[in-house]
Amino acid sequence: MRIDVISIFPQFFDALGLSLFGKATDSGLLGFSAHDLREWATDKHRSVDDTPAGGGAGMVMKADVWGKALEEVFAEPVTPGAALADSSEGVSVAAVDMVSGTDSLDGTETAPEAAMGRGGRAPRRVLVIPTPSGETFTQRVAEDLAYADHLVFACGRYEGIDSRVAEHYRESDVEVRELSIGDYVLNGGEVASIVMIEAVVRLIPGFMGNPESLVEESHGAAGLLEYPVYTRPANWNERDIPQILMSGHHANIARWRRERAFDKTMARRPDMIEALNPEQLDKKDRAY
Ligand code: ADE
Repeated sequence: MRIDVISIFPQFFDALGLSLFGKATDSGLLGFSAHDLREWATDKHRSVDDTPAGGGAGMVMKADVWGKALEEVFAEPVTPGAALADSSEGVSVAAVDMVSGTDSLDGTETAPEAAMGRGGRAPRRVLVIPTPSGETFTQRVAEDLAYADHLVFACGRYEGIDSRVAEHYRESDVEVRELSIGDYVLNGGEVASIVMIEAVVRLIPGFMGNPESLVEESHGAAGLLEYPVYTRPANWNERDIPQILMSGHHANIARWRRERAFDKTMARRPDMIEALNPEQLDKKDRAY
């Protein structure tokens, strides 16, 4: 997968070089670049914004500057197949049928030869526009985006990006996702992009040192919040690790964890319990 971000503050993304993300770019699992939007500004002040049509407060980011930036960044070569190829590749992805373009993954579509990469199919390109007015970014959306070959994050500031940019790309072969990370307003799309990038890249096979960590975590396939976890020392501040976790009895431990995950989810997120489907329950759960 290749990820590009375009922002007037590309330094925000230096933090991604730390930790596992840096390892993934070093190993070639992931290509990443942060670009300064002002590189595509044309006037002597390198301006990227102007007053809103129709009047009102704030400034709007200019379509012509964004248009040139996106055209150039989307022209970068990407290798299809570097992203998740299908749902059998490790992660449990509950949203396979949400993936637009899934049919084209078998290579039977008739996209022009020039648009084809090594994988024999056109790369899946997605323009992500972080905005508080977008659809909510969830683990299901992260799972879907993990199938893309090229993600470009367009980080708006001020009152946002001229709406014609999203309209234009909606009519192209690039998918457009306007996404919000929650019901609050940030000063720009940079922090929201970092949140989304971190959630997506950890789903790429090979990214996590131990992919088993993905199985039982909160918002995973079980549809529950994660059970409480403990490590040594066995007693801390007069609190013991629950005895069952020290028993070595794997089936009892698994049942205990499942019940604690249910308790926690019921207390904190009853909406998630409501949303469980029959495949996410077993007979013991119903009795419970
Ligand atoms: N930009 C400003 N606020 C945002 C939010 N909540 N989500 C995504 N992008 C944003």
